[in-house]
Amino acid sequence: MTDRSTTLEARRVLVGISGGIAAYKVCSVISSLAKAGVAVRAVLTQQGQAFIPPLTVATLSRHPAYTDESFWQAAQGRPLHIELGEWAELLVIAPLSANTLGKLAHGLADNLLTNTVLASTCPVLLAPAMNTDMWQQRAVQRNWHQLLQDDRYHSLEPGSGVLACDRIGTGRMAEPEDILIHIHSLLHTRGKRDLVGQHLLISTGSTREFLDPVRFIGNPASGKMGIALAQAALHRGATVTLVHGPLDDSLTARVGGMQAVGVTTAEEMHLAMLTHLPQASWVVMAAAVADVKPATQATTKLAKADLPGALPLAQVPDIVADLAQRRSPHQRLIGFAAQTGDIVAPALDKLQRKGLDAIVANPIDVVGSGFGGDRNQAVLLTRSGDKFAIAPCTKLSLAHQLWDALLRVGF
Ligand code: C5P
Repeated sequence: MTDRSTTLEARRVLVGISGGIAAYKVCSVISSLAKAGVAVRAVLTQQGQAFIPPLTVATLSRHPAYTDESFWQAAQGRPLHIELGEWAELLVIAPLSANTLGKLAHGLADNLLTNTVLASTCPVLLAPAMNTDMWQQRAVQRNWHQLLQDDRYHSLEPGSGVLACDRIGTGRMAEPEDILIHIHSLLHTRGKRDLVGQHLLISTGSTREFLDPVRFIGNPASGKMGIALAQAALHRGATVTLVHGPLDDSLTARVGGMQAVGVTTAEEMHLAMLTHLPQASWVVMAAAVADVKPATQATTKLAKADLPGALPLAQVPDIVADLAQRRSPHQRLIGFAAQTGDIVAPALDKLQRKGLDAIVANPIDVVGSGFGGDRNQAVLLTRSGDKFAIAPCTKLSLAHQLWDALLRVGF
């Protein structure tokens, strides 16, 4: 049997497209979903159609697109908005115009899209896009906050940048990559917000321990696993502080919605984790901390001829062990163990030795897992003896399965 929590095959997503130039960006979302095997249907408002023709959407989704013209054509003898509302597991409205937002906030329905929203009960992901003055208009902000009081609606706040009206400001629709990640989360959780009220402190990435300003001891950890954990937690309603080592630009773009604290060395990571520890209810040390540093650091670049033949090393602080000592009894502490060979026995040893509540053991010598890639596999071990093996999947899916398992055992 297929595990519906890890595959998107045949999941049912309805994409609503209202009027805005950002409509062109939703085409790549539809295309990616369809390629992943998701059943995609799309509804365009009249203004949405002014920006992208239904034919484009139909071709990308491999299914005829719906417009207001189709509204009153009964589907299999039933009104189309009812049929579509019942069909959808998730509704995504991208771009969400000020007009459609206003209608939804007031429960109004004068076209196929708004009627379908009212005739459905599934989660709705909203990605607004509009000119800065429109977005900042008090009435629009009022509508936005009012709508989000309903748990059914999940938000992808607009970003800022150059807008199509040549203004620079807030109003840019979230990028397709962010929309896709949020869709994957919502298909996994079905909109459940089971981490509301939790403040998660997560570390990720690698640390760099410098010999001189250009040379360092480090490791290939990209930060992707911790970012996936942070995003999954955010989508489940948590407040997240992410302490991260140096990140690629593409990953820096994924830390929106959380408090991100950039660090470089293990000492900086230690300090940042201690600073944010008091607010945290759960702490996850997913970072691959360099265990050692050069015993001395030069402040100017060493000439090649001056490089030592052997490098004297010093220990860096064991951050997670220190957090285990300092935490309050209500704070949960989860470590990671990146291993080669047998991943379980050394992780169990670390769980005990470092005083953790749980540890995630993941192999770094298996093709398609571990450092840098988008996929991973793991075994979650808890102090009370639970053991969950998670098969190879995307890091986002792994993150959700870890939260599922931890919540199930009563974290
Ligand atoms: O490096 P090691 O395998 O011991 O890492 C296990 C756990 O300890 C990980 O959660 C890692 O983030 C943490 N760690 C740490 N400080 C170190 C080394 C590792 O917090 N100096």
